[in-house]
Amino acid sequence: MLRHATIERNVILLAVLTLITVSIGGIVQIVPLFTIETTIERVEGVRPYTPLELAGRNIYLREGCYTCHSQMVRPFRDEIERYGHYSLAAESMYDRPFQWGSKRTGPDLARVGGKYSNEWHLQHFIDPRSVVPESVMPPYGFLLRPLRTDDIASHLRALQRLGVPYTDEMIANAVADLRAQADPDADQSGLLARYPKAPTGAFDGNPGRVTEMDAIIAYMQMLGTLVDFAEVTPEAVRQ
Ligand code: HEC
Repeated sequence: MLRHATIERNVILLAVLTLITVSIGGIVQIVPLFTIETTIERVEGVRPYTPLELAGRNIYLREGCYTCHSQMVRPFRDEIERYGHYSLAAESMYDRPFQWGSKRTGPDLARVGGKYSNEWHLQHFIDPRSVVPESVMPPYGFLLRPLRTDDIASHLRALQRLGVPYTDEMIANAVADLRAQADPDADQSGLLARYPKAPTGAFDGNPGRVTEMDAIIAYMQMLGTLVDFAEVTPEAVRQ
């Protein structure tokens, strides 16, 4: 009792001891996160982005879509009924930076893939209010301009250095895979072998050229589609 009184009456001693106690708690919580392989439970189906999807994701960052859209379905009943299965950590394990977001002026996009047709997305990006009259989303028709492709291999290589499992073969084929995904007449066997379940098509309605619109729609169409939830039962659900 007496010793406790000493601590309580000495502000500096109290501060030092508080700091030590809080640090121990902090270390216990933070250190395990450095071994990211063991922190995130691997889930079948999760793969790195195709070059076209990655380009679309970069446009998503550039345009600040995250200021109005989140990409994380929280494990609450209302969210699951509206958007689908809650997000798993593994689904954003290759996201640098992740796009969970904290603002929903528009709906969550984590499971938007396959919800609409490519034509719907095209029309919605060109003029959101033509399909959703009360929408406050800005128009993005200017994305119908050629997509820059000369730097895509470098984007893959940068992510490879950060630990995303892009193979040298994927990097060597980056531009070819990017073009094949947006052209229904191209040979897509290599693309689909490297990136299973990649959505393909003339996303912007024009197979002749690859635009930023192709990239952003390809990215929208793959979001949340990689994991087959009929097959996967994460630990948290099993318990
Ligand atoms: C000013 C806020 C704002 C910005 C910025 C914004 N959106 Fe939206 N978005 C909305 C709102 C509000 C809706 C709901 C109404 C609608 O469908 O247009 C929406 C809807 C959507 C939908 C349909 C989702 C669904 O499930 O119905 C998609 C896809 C989408 N936005 C993608 C994007 C992308 C990609 C960008 C960046 C290029 C973007 N948005 C930028 C506000 C925004």
